[in-house]
Amino acid sequence: MLSVVARAGTVSPYLRAACLAVAGPLSAVSPAAVVKKDTVLLDANKPLLCGHCARTGPTVSSRLNAVAGVRFAHTDIRVPDFSVYRRPEVMDPKKSAQDSGDARKVFSYLMTGSTAVLGVYAAKTVVTQFISSMSASADVLALSKIEIKLSVIPEGKNMTFKWRGKPLFVRHRTEKEIATEASVNLSELRDPQHDKDRVTNPKWVIVIGVCTHLGCVPIANAGEYGGYYCPCHGSHYDASGRIRKGPAPLNLEVPYYEFPDDETVIVG
Ligand code: FES
Repeated sequence: MLSVVARAGTVSPYLRAACLAVAGPLSAVSPAAVVKKDTVLLDANKPLLCGHCARTGPTVSSRLNAVAGVRFAHTDIRVPDFSVYRRPEVMDPKKSAQDSGDARKVFSYLMTGSTAVLGVYAAKTVVTQFISSMSASADVLALSKIEIKLSVIPEGKNMTFKWRGKPLFVRHRTEKEIATEASVNLSELRDPQHDKDRVTNPKWVIVIGVCTHLGCVPIANAGEYGGYYCPCHGSHYDASGRIRKGPAPLNLEVPYYEFPDDETVIVG
């Protein structure tokens, strides 16, 4: 757009040649029509074109077939100078702009590409910041995990921890319990699941201590199967946390956990 406006300034002097020119404030028409008399007699049958020139005074010109419309050449209009915005390669009007076309295209492509890359990067940053502002804060994330030292839990015992507002059972099983739970026939189970699919290390059973019936907290090392017993309605779980008797429909839930070393487990 700026280029079009700038070029208009270059061609504006030639516009006078393409119109029916009459006297303007700064330039007179052809002297062939200048009448220097105190009194100018006008023929009402001839069309007239009148103007006023700053140098020659009132000017009248006539033609036999003059048209009604008159286009004034306003050569006094100041066209803004956009030279500072123009590229030096196209400043010379006598030089073809095509000579520098390739170089200017490279510059244009470079600027367009850089702007696009910066725009995409800025958009990605804004979106990332916006989404991350909705995620949990660092203190909340820290609470989402719990690290437990396994050495504090003796063999055959179960300890309860609080994790994400729920009780978490960590059970250190004996060799006898491990052998017993591994040999259970899956056809006897209401929610069939092999013991090896519920533990990472057979010595440790880690389950969420919430009864799958109505959400009571079972009692460890109790019930007919020696695992967990829910006194609310009498659900019995074995030492793998599987439901064996009572109204509960599912096994105790196993959360995600990992052992960074032999003495530690991280849940969550
Ligand atoms: S809530 Fe545990 S048996 Fe009903």
